[in-house]
Amino acid sequence: MLLVLLVACDTATENPLLYTFPEGFRWGAAGAAHQIEGGNTNNNWYQFETLPEFAGKTAEPSGNAVDGYARYEEDADLAASLGAGVTYRLSIEWSRVEPSRDAWDEAEWQHYRDVLEALVARGVVPMVTLHHFTEPIWVQDLADLDCAAGPTDANLCGWTNPDVPAEFAEFAHEAATRFGDLVDEWSTFNEPGGYLLSGYLGGAFPPGYLTISKTGIAERVVPVAEGLFDGHVAAYHAVHEADVVDADADGAAAMVGFTNSIQWIVPVDEDDPADVAAADRIRSLYAYIFPDAVISGLMDRDLDGVPEEAHPEWAGTVDQLGYQYYFRMYVKAEDGFPPVDAVICDRTILELLGLSPASFGCPEPHPDDVTQMDYEHYAAGLGLLAPALAERYPGVPLRVTEAGIATTTGRRRAESIVRQLAGLSDAIAAGAPVDGYIHWSLTDNYEWAEGFRPRFGLWTVDLDTYERTETEGAEVLRTIIADGGIRQSVWDTYGEGEHLSPGE
Ligand code: BGC
Repeated sequence: MLLVLLVACDTATENPLLYTFPEGFRWGAAGAAHQIEGGNTNNNWYQFETLPEFAGKTAEPSGNAVDGYARYEEDADLAASLGAGVTYRLSIEWSRVEPSRDAWDEAEWQHYRDVLEALVARGVVPMVTLHHFTEPIWVQDLADLDCAAGPTDANLCGWTNPDVPAEFAEFAHEAATRFGDLVDEWSTFNEPGGYLLSGYLGGAFPPGYLTISKTGIAERVVPVAEGLFDGHVAAYHAVHEADVVDADADGAAAMVGFTNSIQWIVPVDEDDPADVAAADRIRSLYAYIFPDAVISGLMDRDLDGVPEEAHPEWAGTVDQLGYQYYFRMYVKAEDGFPPVDAVICDRTILELLGLSPASFGCPEPHPDDVTQMDYEHYAAGLGLLAPALAERYPGVPLRVTEAGIATTTGRRRAESIVRQLAGLSDAIAAGAPVDGYIHWSLTDNYEWAEGFRPRFGLWTVDLDTYERTETEGAEVLRTIIADGGIRQSVWDTYGEGEHLSPGE
């Protein structure tokens, strides 16, 4: 006993906790159905990957993904190995459980019950997303995008049809009825802003629309946004109505929110008021449009950065806001540049348009900080975002529901985790209401338009054998979870350094 105490004292003095997290802080990792399962042939992404009219939009099809549908027990073991009581954030593939409108597939519902039971049996807390970028073909058939004959049961023609939010709410109600005994934490949408802007403005996601004119945005993008707001609100109420079982006995049967993509968005010249205003407009478009609507009941219809249209019917439908952070984004004011008179310093987009980032004064990131996604890793952003969100949405609890790095170099992943968590710890200590950190992702997976090249997994996956191999990222996250924070030794190994270690 004395020996144990002495060892504990030594650890505390020689290897103190430099960054701590509150008691009960939630740790975990995430995945999403289409990215891991394989064999999802009944959704919009399958069409996007395989129909000839979308050739070249994706680097490769998702195929078997990482065989996650069959390997759910193995993956539950991996999640459980991170520590006691960790969370696994997963999605239910709507197109599997409802392959045709209003027809449930009982075998697929049973599959997801098996998945959830496998997690719970291992002490892993499930957090369930209902829409992670995919939806059944009957919601919007990409082979009949112009919908000339009008909506049918086989093609509802997308989110501007009010039947779609209602159908989504029915699916949400069914999931919450069936799984309320296992699940207390629900997200309606994952990154609805990403779905909207990549699908209807940038064209990189289904349905692949590239919309650059202001009138095009008003006519095509804004109405879809309104359909998504309606879908979220209807699903929020449906889950609350249906999930009446307090699965984890914490006093609440259901916590319902959505997960929001938000990057660290900064002006190219912070002393130039035009750049500052341009960054505000981009932030509003990319990161605030959804939470403003469904938390504050305010909509920025003309996309000028100021939400002015009141929608009390949407307000107050987020019990917790998930935020997901990956990179630093510079913005330069540029009159006439669509859609909001601002240029985003995104090398890939600008080069596609035949423009050079340097001509807009875009800073060149240090090469070691550029990830496989070609954007700039900026560790401080994760913590810096927390007070900004808390200030804009007072009283709404926050959780990091994704953060991670695409790299094949284990050390870079470990550095990213340690440095991002240090900033998060500081933000929480200063009062930001963040209750957890869910790493993206548990295993490597299908990275949408980029295919399988970017490797986000704590476990890397051999795409021939589907064997999962632990990375240094999993090791360091497990240590941090066990310690309840970052010890001196972990910081000394991974925390110091202005840039990430070199590597892919
Ligand atoms: C999405 C994930 C994606 C990750 C990394 C998030 O935008 O929710 O599906 O894999 O970022 O790019």
